[in-house]
Amino acid sequence: MSEIAVMGATGHTGSVIARNLLALGHRVRAMGRSAERLESLRQQGAQLHVGNCADAAYLERAFGGADAVYAMMPFDPTAPGFMALQRTQGQAIVSALQAARVPHVVALSSLGAEQPTGTGVLVSLHEQEQRLAALQHSHVLKLRPAMFFEGLFNLLPGVKYGGSLADAFAPDLPIPMIATRDIADAATAALDQRGWTGHRVRELLGPGDLSHNQLATLVGGVIGQPALAYQQLPYESAAQGMAQAGIAPDLADLLAEMARALNEGRVRTVEGRNAGNTTPTPLQALGPALKAAYEALP
Ligand SMILES: NC(=O)c1ccc[n+]([C@@H]2O[C@H](COP(=O)([O-])OP(=O)(O)OC[C@H]3O[C@@H](n4cnc5c(N)ncnc54)[C@H](OP(=O)(O)O)[C@@H]3O)[C@@H](O)[C@H]2O)c1
Repeated sequence: MSEIAVMGATGHTGSVIARNLLALGHRVRAMGRSAERLESLRQQGAQLHVGNCADAAYLERAFGGADAVYAMMPFDPTAPGFMALQRTQGQAIVSALQAARVPHVVALSSLGAEQPTGTGVLVSLHEQEQRLAALQHSHVLKLRPAMFFEGLFNLLPGVKYGGSLADAFAPDLPIPMIATRDIADAATAALDQRGWTGHRVRELLGPGDLSHNQLATLVGGVIGQPALAYQQLPYESAAQGMAQAGIAPDLADLLAEMARALNEGRVRTVEGRNAGNTTPTPLQALGPALKAAYEALP
């Protein structure tokens, strides 16, 4: 049994990792900003560490004495100043990992994080990978997943009120996409077994590449609109739409820039797809949840 700290334990990846590790018999330190949101993990046996990840002293307490840490970079889509906040949080996370001399770190990054510039929001994960590279006392596994299927939930209001699946991605461009549960399973295995040494990178590419035209057909199928079409938006309109939906304008611009980087082939797999980075869960597994979320919209 090991002692493992899990950042973002109420989020997509962290919640599943925390539950998985508890089921494997590990002692889990579940991290997040709200004891209330972490309560179900406490009931399953996790120890709660409540605090803000911009606070290095809190992080050092949560990481101290742990055998391994799941380190991720949260962000609040409504908060202005995305890059500055990410730098503050990223530095706090790495200095706490360094001070606590955590033996094994599994860090959530992204496809495209090897690129220093021009990838919008992903530049923050490139910078975090650079900071993690300075850790001298840790074996570090950086997971670089594809785009999350769960991002499709954000497009459902546009489907309901605008009549199409609309985004800035090129309609026929095949893009690797992944279910967050598959990232969680890969992270769980790494945290459980800790069978790597040094600093490593692992891509996670989901079950296959999908174009946005294909996504529209699949999403249309699960919500009962088989004729649903994809509409490519100009980058500026996509950013404006995100800002109108409540995303901070600077972050909306960075998300549109990321879409441009994908469209222009600058964010892509470095390893190439293979059996080791192809993960099992298809989009259809999210079908019932997508349908329920669509039907719940007013
Ligand atoms: N979406 C994509 O397609 C994609 C692709 C590749 C990589 N990524 C990366 O994946 C990461 C997101 O992972 P995820 O989806 O598992 O997380 P998530 O579902 O967005 O959840 C964020 C977690 O962080 C916690 N949190 C938020 N702000 C915090 C703060 N200031 N201090 C401490 N905890 C905080 C939240 O808990 P509380 O709110 O309860 O505190 C929650 O548990 C991001 O770094 C993103 O760049 C995303």
